[in-house]
Amino acid sequence: MADHYFSAEPTSADVRRAVQARIWGKEYTFTTATGVFSRDRLDLGTSVLLREVPPPTGSHTVLDLGTGYGPIAVAIAVEAPDAQVWAVDVNSRALELTAENAKAAGVGDRVHPVLTDGVPEDVRFDEIWSNPAIHIGKPELHKMLLHWLARLAPQGVAWLVVGKNLGADSLQKWLGEQGYPCERTASAKGFRVLKVTATNQAATPS
Ligand SMILES: C[S@@+](CC[C@H](N)C(=O)[O-])C[C@H]1O[C@@H](n2cnc3c(N)ncnc32)[C@H](O)[C@@H]1O
Repeated sequence: MADHYFSAEPTSADVRRAVQARIWGKEYTFTTATGVFSRDRLDLGTSVLLREVPPPTGSHTVLDLGTGYGPIAVAIAVEAPDAQVWAVDVNSRALELTAENAKAAGVGDRVHPVLTDGVPEDVRFDEIWSNPAIHIGKPELHKMLLHWLARLAPQGVAWLVVGKNLGADSLQKWLGEQGYPCERTASAKGFRVLKVTATNQAATPS
C-alpha cells in the first residue's frame, strides 16, 4: 500500500530534515521525516491556526489531535509552562519525532506523544487543538472528532483548522448538529478556524 502520512508504520526510508518555524513570536527548529505530514515546512493550515488563536495559559490539560511531528503540541507546551499536552497520532514515526522535538524545546516532560489508545481513560481536556486529518474520509473523521470531543472538560474548547475546499463549512454545520456549538472565528489563506465548545447535550460517541 502507498505510504500515506497517516500510515501507522511508514515503510519509506526515515530521511530526516530540519524545518524552521516562527510560532507565537518564537523561533523553532523541528526535525521532520519522510512519511510524516508536511515534512518540508510548517503546514499553511497549521500556521493559520497558530496565528489566529492565542496559546492557552494556566495549568491546562491539552490534546493535540493528529500531532504529526508535533509543532502544535511543542509550541503550546513552551507557551504554557504548567500545561500537560497529550499529542496523539496513528503514525509511530510522527510520535518519535514529536518526542524528539519536545525534548529539543525543553518540554519533553510535559508533552506526551502516544497512539490513540494511549491516553488514560480519566484524562479530560481543557483544550483540544487540531489540524485534523481530513483525508482519512468523512466517516473516520467524524468518528475521530466525536470520540475526542466527548473528552472535553465541561468548559472545554476545541480549536480546529480546516481547508475551505476540504469541507470546513459542512464540518461546522455537522458539529452543530451533533450538539457541539461551533463558530468560525477566522478565515485566512483558504482555511477556516473553528471554535467548538463542549456541551452536555452532545450525542454519545460510538
Ligand atoms: C493534517 S496532519 C497535521 C499534523 C500536525 N498537527 C501538523 O500541524 O503538522 C493530521 C495528522 O493526523 C494523523 N491522523 C490520521 N488519522 C488519525 C486518527 N484517527 N487519530 C489521530 N491522528 C490521526 C495523521 O497521521 C497526521 O499526522
